[in-house]
Amino acid sequence: MTASEPLTLEEEYEMQTSWHQDEDKLTFIIMSLPNDSNKCLKNLPDSEIKENIVMVGDVNIFLNDPDNDRTFGEIEVMIAEPDYRRTGRGKEALKIIMGYAMEVIGLKTFQAKISIENEPSVNLFKSQFGFYQVSISHVFEEVVLEWTLLEYAPPTIDEYGNEVESYGSKATTEQRDRVMQVRNDLFNYWKNNVRSSNYL
Ligand SMILES: CC(C)(COP(=O)(O)OP(=O)(O)OC[C@H]1O[C@@H](n2cnc3c(N)ncnc32)[C@H](O)[C@@H]1OP(=O)(O)O)[C@@H](O)C(=O)NCCC(=O)NCCS
Repeated sequence: MTASEPLTLEEEYEMQTSWHQDEDKLTFIIMSLPNDSNKCLKNLPDSEIKENIVMVGDVNIFLNDPDNDRTFGEIEVMIAEPDYRRTGRGKEALKIIMGYAMEVIGLKTFQAKISIENEPSVNLFKSQFGFYQVSISHVFEEVVLEWTLLEYAPPTIDEYGNEVESYGSKATTEQRDRVMQVRNDLFNYWKNNVRSSNYL
């Protein structure tokens, strides 16, 4: 979870409507059967799924690269309901949105900005997906994590003569190898579990 303020339901609807129309934002709402439900999603007919599930969080990608690189996305995930945390939902949501973003939209680089104190999220991105830290801001009290499929490229010089580092320039060989391994896992997950299912 990155830093965000709680919203009323009405504000949430308004935000989702504007995001739905915004080509720079991709958002998936994370729905789940209630924890105390005795039903099984796989056995429910499509027509009954909606009325049996509850909203537990969301996962978002913002295509907000300053130079409008459309292969870059800032990613965030939140399981808002504490009772629904640590049961694999956050991880699965990230697998689905990253697979979608790479296979359908063509994203190659993800960045996550996470509060320094938010150990659960930092752990999720780093240990489960191979994100690596590229910077830390003590002013905003957040770390910036990155994950890219781009090959190493030397820095370029911008119009003001400043050196501009490309995404991935700080990644070690080990980190790149891990990203490629995760990318293959995500692709297989996408192919075998998501593309042909009811998710989309
Ligand atoms: C962070 C968050 C997105 C993770 O989603 P989740 O569905 O709860 O987590 P998952 O069950 O998918 O966990 C996947 C991995 O994330 C990491 N993780 C999740 N919760 C964690 C926790 N409380 N502590 C440490 N690592 C954690 C672990 O690597 C975990 O893998 P493991 O269970 O095999 O160890 C979710 O818990 C969330 O939005 N939390 C709110 C932020 C928060 O907790 N803030 C408190 C500190 S500011």
